[in-house]
Amino acid sequence: MTLSLSTAGESHGPALVAIVTGLPAGLTLDRAAIDADLRRRQQGYGRSPRQQLEQDEVEVLAGLRHGRTLGTPLALIVRNRDHKNWTWGMSPWPPEGEPSGKGTKAVTLPRPGHADLPGVLKYGHADVRDALERASARHTAVFVAAGAVAKALLRELGVEVAGSVAEIGGETDGWEAAIDAARADRDTLGGVVEVRAKGVPPGLGSYATRGDRLDAQFAAALMGIQAVKGVEIGDGFELARRRGSEAHDEIEPGLRRRSNRAGGIEAGVTNGEEVVVRAAMKPLPTLMRPLDSVDLATGEAAQALVERSDVAAVEALAVVAEAAVAWELARAAQEKFGGDALEDLRAAHGAYLARIQWPRTH
Ligand SMILES: Cc1cc2nc3c(=O)[nH]c(=O)nc-3n(C[C@H](O)[C@H](O)[C@H](O)COP(=O)(O)O)c2cc1C
Repeated sequence: MTLSLSTAGESHGPALVAIVTGLPAGLTLDRAAIDADLRRRQQGYGRSPRQQLEQDEVEVLAGLRHGRTLGTPLALIVRNRDHKNWTWGMSPWPPEGEPSGKGTKAVTLPRPGHADLPGVLKYGHADVRDALERASARHTAVFVAAGAVAKALLRELGVEVAGSVAEIGGETDGWEAAIDAARADRDTLGGVVEVRAKGVPPGLGSYATRGDRLDAQFAAALMGIQAVKGVEIGDGFELARRRGSEAHDEIEPGLRRRSNRAGGIEAGVTNGEEVVVRAAMKPLPTLMRPLDSVDLATGEAAQALVERSDVAAVEALAVVAEAAVAWELARAAQEKFGGDALEDLRAAHGAYLARIQWPRTH
């Protein structure tokens, strides 16, 4: 069975939706753990007041009974509490009554760096909102919920995944002052996050085709998150500046490595070391001091849209990136060990570790 995920949902629409297929039956999910990840995604220094407004919670519509997966499609939703202010503006059906609330006027001031201009050109929208609502990172909320499900599956195999911030605005320890300064200048910041996965057995992923490579899957998954502009596996770009003797991880008896510059992946396959993946986030494109743009209604020079927005969302990205890496690891694990019942998956995992004698004691 292949683990797969589809999501839908606009930023200010009624809800965000995810459908997860390919989960084994018998996996226990913990609502509090999923909600805790949703909460983590909303926290962080430099977030907008919207995060306090929403207080995300997961609802499960299908695929779960008494907290255990049924082996059927799992349907998750996270409601947009802010939708109550957008019921006219974001009504899925032609709205009834007089325009009221938010989103009633067409947006025609595209923000450089956002989906606004390419989106309206591509899809033929007259209102930039038709592009930005889905392009917005709001839908990472339901992706984080799916990531929490992936982490529950991985935990059954002894794998723990954790994301953290490596830098914000170029600061590697203590970035609150940088965020305060950017806020005062009505500007925004980006940064770098790191995701580490412990307990990953050797042999997830493959070099058989380029699509099977786990490093390629991580890169695609992380680049699939809004505002991510670079991905590194292990020492990544730094490796390009070193000699071979300083770039690889020598093998010791017990098949462990003296270093982990490869970030736990060789030839697209995990090698038993900790998986280490980093993602670079650009500064957010909505500035309170807007950048130059053009009013699409008149063709004249204008200032870009100003909408409630974060100064920095790097701490949130760490949680979303953790979900992305967890998802790809869970998918690779399910591909290798299979099984439509959790017991079968665990048995296959155990048999494999026994075959390769992992972890080796000598
Ligand atoms: C967790 C998270 C929160 C974000 N919050 C904002 C925000 O408040 N304002 C904004 O302009 N962009 C925000 N972004 C980035 C935009 O969604 C993103 O830049 C935009 O969709 C264009 O896509 P691109 O940057 O990948 O080219 C956020 C991204 C993430 C991952």
